[in-house]
Amino acid sequence: MELEDMRKLFPMFSKRQVVYFASCSYGPLSEPVKRALLKYMNDWESKGMNWDFWMEKYEELRSEAAKLLGASRDEIAIVSNVTSGLAAFATSLEYNGKKVVLSDLNFPTVGHVWLSQQRLGAKVSIVYSESWKISIDALEKVVDDNTIVLSEPRVCYQSGFTYSNIRALSKIAHEHGAYFVLDDAQATGVLDIDVKKADVDVLVTTTLKYLMGGAGVGIMYVRKDIVDDLSPLTTGWFGQEEPFAFDIHKLDYARSARRFETGSPAVPSILTSLESIKLIRNIGVKRIESRVKDLVKYATDLGLSHGMKVLSPKDEENMGPIFAFEHEDPHGLYEMLLDRGIVVSPRGPAVRVSFHFFNTKEEIELLFDNLRDLNVLR
Ligand SMILES: Cc1ncc(COP(=O)(O)O)c(C=O)c1O
Repeated sequence: MELEDMRKLFPMFSKRQVVYFASCSYGPLSEPVKRALLKYMNDWESKGMNWDFWMEKYEELRSEAAKLLGASRDEIAIVSNVTSGLAAFATSLEYNGKKVVLSDLNFPTVGHVWLSQQRLGAKVSIVYSESWKISIDALEKVVDDNTIVLSEPRVCYQSGFTYSNIRALSKIAHEHGAYFVLDDAQATGVLDIDVKKADVDVLVTTTLKYLMGGAGVGIMYVRKDIVDDLSPLTTGWFGQEEPFAFDIHKLDYARSARRFETGSPAVPSILTSLESIKLIRNIGVKRIESRVKDLVKYATDLGLSHGMKVLSPKDEENMGPIFAFEHEDPHGLYEMLLDRGIVVSPRGPAVRVSFHFFNTKEEIELLFDNLRDLNVLR
């Protein structure tokens, strides 16, 4: 299907003519996702519980997520969000004073999870970025044989800095016998990944941003050959080999990544995430990535030509799905643009303009016309 036809599947564009640049915060609603939610409400109203159907969809979501990431089904855990997946992994480790290395490009939640492991004996070492950039060398200097984890995001939530070579990061970790953990929240759905080629040990992501499935579901990949070594402290019946054995006396972790699951899932979000991942796979992540990179380059060139304080990378190598610029009042500007039917995402000192398959160059030009009108451009 052509991208223009896919765009029509979003009421926000087909009915409301909104210009949406905020998928980095929350992806827009599509018709298939809306239908799944309506069916859920109807079923709930007419039948009450519908567990057989819900569990079937739960497992279908696992399969779809596996295909999206290039993993196998038994390497996927369905969790509530990035934080809970990461915390489950973090509590599986025996630290004994070993070091967790992460940069300040990470979303704060990642820092919180690792800092809380200090109680379990972890030492946390934060590598600082310069002008929102981290070089592989800077990480390489800090990761050593006493490192247990290197934990980085593929895309920085604030500046949009994007690692172009994930394999280079996993290589640094593996050379020192450490795990490599990737927070893919700002990338999954718009930037392609094959976890095997990237040699990632653990990937955590969310369905609420570029996957456009709404909040409530996190997807976690754990490499098959490390699963058996990991016993999370956060566990429960959904993480057991036989969840329906109802044996209160025995802790019997699932033999797969399912061991990182805990209790009853957020059913509506399972149903919406499934539909949205199917939609994304149908469009094709490689196709989305190439379009999004074109758009980000176009916006960056325009921004620089107008003398904007561009926070996102100026070199193509580290460009991702976000164009970000500094502004004295990001939230105020967000509200003014919202009044004009354009949605951007304020974050700290930055205004983030993020792209998905449905965005166009004409929309970027419209944004710049409005910025000029609002005296944001020189
Ligand atoms: C890179 C990144 N990681 C994690 C999160 C949030 O994680 P969670 O799904 O736990 O809310 C965000 C939210 O903006 C993010 O941008």
